[in-house]
Amino acid sequence: MSTQHDPGPAKEGMFRTKTVEQSIRDTEEPEHELKKSLSALDLTVFGVGVIIGTGIFVLTGKVAKETAGPATALAFVAAGVVCALAALCYAEFASTVPVAGSAYTFSYASLGELVAWTIGWDLVLEFALGTAVVAVGWSGYVRSLMDNVGWGMPEALSGPEAADGFGFDLLAFVLVLLLTAILVAGVKLSARVTAIVVAIKVTVVLIVIIAGSFFIKADNYSPFIPDAVTPPAGSGWDAPLVQLMFGYEPTNFGVMGIFTAASVVFFAFIGFDVVATAAEETKVPQRDMPRGILGSLLICTVLYVAVSLVVTGMQHYSELSVSAPLADAFKATGHPFYAGTISFGAAVGLTTVCMILLLGQTRVFFAMSRDGLLPRFFSVTHPKFRTPYRPTILLGVLIAIIAGFTSLEELATLVNIGTLFAFIVVALGVIVLRRTRPDLHRAFRTPLVPLVPILSVAASLWLMLNLPAETWLRFGIWMAVGYVLYFAYGRSHSRLGREGPGAKY
Ligand code: ALA
Repeated sequence: MSTQHDPGPAKEGMFRTKTVEQSIRDTEEPEHELKKSLSALDLTVFGVGVIIGTGIFVLTGKVAKETAGPATALAFVAAGVVCALAALCYAEFASTVPVAGSAYTFSYASLGELVAWTIGWDLVLEFALGTAVVAVGWSGYVRSLMDNVGWGMPEALSGPEAADGFGFDLLAFVLVLLLTAILVAGVKLSARVTAIVVAIKVTVVLIVIIAGSFFIKADNYSPFIPDAVTPPAGSGWDAPLVQLMFGYEPTNFGVMGIFTAASVVFFAFIGFDVVATAAEETKVPQRDMPRGILGSLLICTVLYVAVSLVVTGMQHYSELSVSAPLADAFKATGHPFYAGTISFGAAVGLTTVCMILLLGQTRVFFAMSRDGLLPRFFSVTHPKFRTPYRPTILLGVLIAIIAGFTSLEELATLVNIGTLFAFIVVALGVIVLRRTRPDLHRAFRTPLVPLVPILSVAASLWLMLNLPAETWLRFGIWMAVGYVLYFAYGRSHSRLGREGPGAKY
């Protein structure tokens, strides 16, 4: 890469772009440098570690019961296709711009500072709230295990949904703080812990698929796509935007229900993009990144389709549990031992999801700070551990508080809209960077450009439109706050803007 010419930032003001070479040089400054220690296998384990989580363990039941029935398997296929298209774009970017920060860094190199800020701010939402969602899901499974042995948590400490008045999710809060401490101590430690936990989690998923397949009743698949029904009237804001836009009466189930379900179970795939945030800590990013991203996504898609088919085959969709559907399907068919094992594996497995989302979050914040868009104070790495300990601690504490006080579902859809938006920016970035920097070495090239990126944009937009109107509103407010911050601070403190193209990075 270093032999290529460096034309410097091409544009001025908020459209200024940081060159790929600048991005890579930044990572070589000793006090802002992360340790390069991850292999393709580490990345795949990392990917599977974060991808399989609350989505399959918790959301499957709710979606099958309320939105899609047995056709939830098709919803997983639809969401998987959207992610595969995005993954093809992410892999090209991650192998071309191998520095911390994921889509944020990629867009800084291709679409300009304002878009980079947009995406960075958006990723903060995705990862921070995603961490909180998974911590709350984890806490639910742990409480259910504790109940089994007769240790009930007081309601007031079981989260806002369990309690009538004040409710604080103590377990979720403590989990996030513990994981923050582990991340501050260094990536290698967390990668090792992750590997063990991922093995437990995948084993549990395989138990569900293999053991569960013996308890499937064909009758439960009939009808495979239940007829569309009109949900009880809400405020209107909770209906999918696409149905409101085109004046349909909102419905659950039916063919449209599959897409509504896909926009929710999409949460189950979030994480493969996080693999890209670890590019800077990867030994040979050009080779290992695409392998890590595409490999982990493929493994998870196959497992999800199998799990949802098995679970909706074991129990009629209308009877599925919404809090622990995989375990409860075994209880319902008279196999409590399997149910206990699955609950234990889920509780263990969700810890890594939480940890890796938290890691992605701190790395994006770190990259934004290193560029001066957020205070530089946050990008000084720890002298001994070489981790970005300041944003890790600050955000860890904030997320722990959010996890303590919030409920699952609304946060999950907000995470989804933010992630889908990031997918769109990355896909557009692939097209733009091919034109503006055709000379760059791309270890992995997205096939059929611009067709695949355009399909990726269309598919992501389609899922976004299937999310509730209120999710769009919340997302709009979050982004508006971000722009106020950018124009009040980031724009004038940007390192690229201050030091210009000739600056020594
Ligand atoms: N994909 C992750 C999950 O399902 C975020 O929990």
